[in-house]
Amino acid sequence: IKSRRIMPYKVILSISINHHVYCALVDINDYFPAYRHILKGFNMHSPTILVTGGAGYIGSHTCIELLNAGFYVLVIDNLQNSSEESLKRVADITGKSVTFIKGDVRDKELMKEIFSENKIAATIHFAGLKAVGESCAMPLEYYDNNINSTLVLCQAMEKAGSKNLVFSSSATVYGDPETLPLTENMPLSATNPYGRSKLIIEEMLRDLPESDKLKKTDNPWSVALLRYFNPVGAHESGSIGEDPSDIPNNLMPFITQTAVGRRTELSIFGSDYDTVDGTGVRDYIHVVDLARGHLKAVQKLLSKESIEGVQAYNLGTGNGISVLEMVKAFAEVNNVKVPYKLVERRPGDVAACYADATRAKMELDWEAGMSLDDMVRDSWNWQ
Ligand code: NAD
Ligand code: UD1
Repeated sequence: IKSRRIMPYKVILSISINHHVYCALVDINDYFPAYRHILKGFNMHSPTILVTGGAGYIGSHTCIELLNAGFYVLVIDNLQNSSEESLKRVADITGKSVTFIKGDVRDKELMKEIFSENKIAATIHFAGLKAVGESCAMPLEYYDNNINSTLVLCQAMEKAGSKNLVFSSSATVYGDPETLPLTENMPLSATNPYGRSKLIIEEMLRDLPESDKLKKTDNPWSVALLRYFNPVGAHESGSIGEDPSDIPNNLMPFITQTAVGRRTELSIFGSDYDTVDGTGVRDYIHVVDLARGHLKAVQKLLSKESIEGVQAYNLGTGNGISVLEMVKAFAEVNNVKVPYKLVERRPGDVAACYADATRAKMELDWEAGMSLDDMVRDSWNWQ
């Protein structure tokens, strides 16, 4: 126990247990005669949330929301697709820092250690590989990273009895949708190894509550599968965002790189779809809205009405936006030019995909609040 005298009759006592610091402001008159009384005055630390892949695009934005909500945040990331700088910026934005562990979620010993040294209230599992094209070229790496990391993580969680999980899934699990908008109980399928890895993980996680039933445990699994639609944008500070080091995978970085002059023009894939203007329609969601969805899911898991077993939630706005609408909004709001040409359809693309996010609204008390203008403004601000 360390003490620091801050006023004539008051001291701050702090005690550090397993890297958690508990503090109390104590009247000095109480200090010696009533030690037990002093301990009662300690504000126990807020719950700890483990965030795997927390240095990445969606993870870093989620850390901000968790820290602002008062959680203690522990991040594990191997920095394969990110850098520690994003976590420093998270600290600048929030005035609070996360505890960072550089490591791989597939490292069994490390995960065991993390769970035995920390009392983890819930885990958000972002860590993984996410590029569809790359997954077709190197499927084994995708199955190894995405599936194995989830397996090792869940084993460590089960061993520690820490069974609240939020998993990063994707709208890609709906495959080629037959009807729109997409609700969570529509048929699932995969069209590439990345999507298949998400689907396999979802199925694997669905087996866990079944095992709870057999064991008749009083500490069951509670799992939220968050199916993201198309995340875009960045924190309004412009200091964190998506930073594709290679060729981008998604539309928005292609737009920003064209606007900034790194590319001469944007290729719009397909102008003959049965949509509002012939170009592909998607449900773009601001990454800050998405991050808030994770906070809501964690709060739900930790509430009395927690999730029973496994539940899937669509995180989208429910609005379909075409590629041309997106390009026009970007150019108008940011007062920049985005030269484009209409080219052939991209193989594997669907005409339209957007969410019905009613379940997230009803059960998580979450809905997307940011507009298309916010998305294009913040994407440009970050670029
Ligand atoms: P990202 O690449 O920015 O973040 C993933 C983070 O995980 C990175 O920091 C990376 O270094 C880390 N990582 C990867 N493998 C790891 C491992 N084995 N151990 C430890 N750290 C590891 O990606 P993102 O856009 O923030 O996506 C996060 C999650 O959301 C992923 O699971 C992704 O599949 C899913 N998702 C993303 C999108 C999207 O469009 N961005 C859409 C749907 C689902
Ligand atoms: C991609 C992923 C999907 C993932 C989703 C959200 C593929 C095949 N699928 O799908 O698994 O769940 O992101 O992260 O990558 N477009 C252009 N020009 C471009 C880039 C894109 O016109 O240079 C169009 C596409 O044809 C599409 C729209 O923009 O109509 C959105 O594309 P993209 O950002 O790649 O997302 P998805 O196709 O939804």
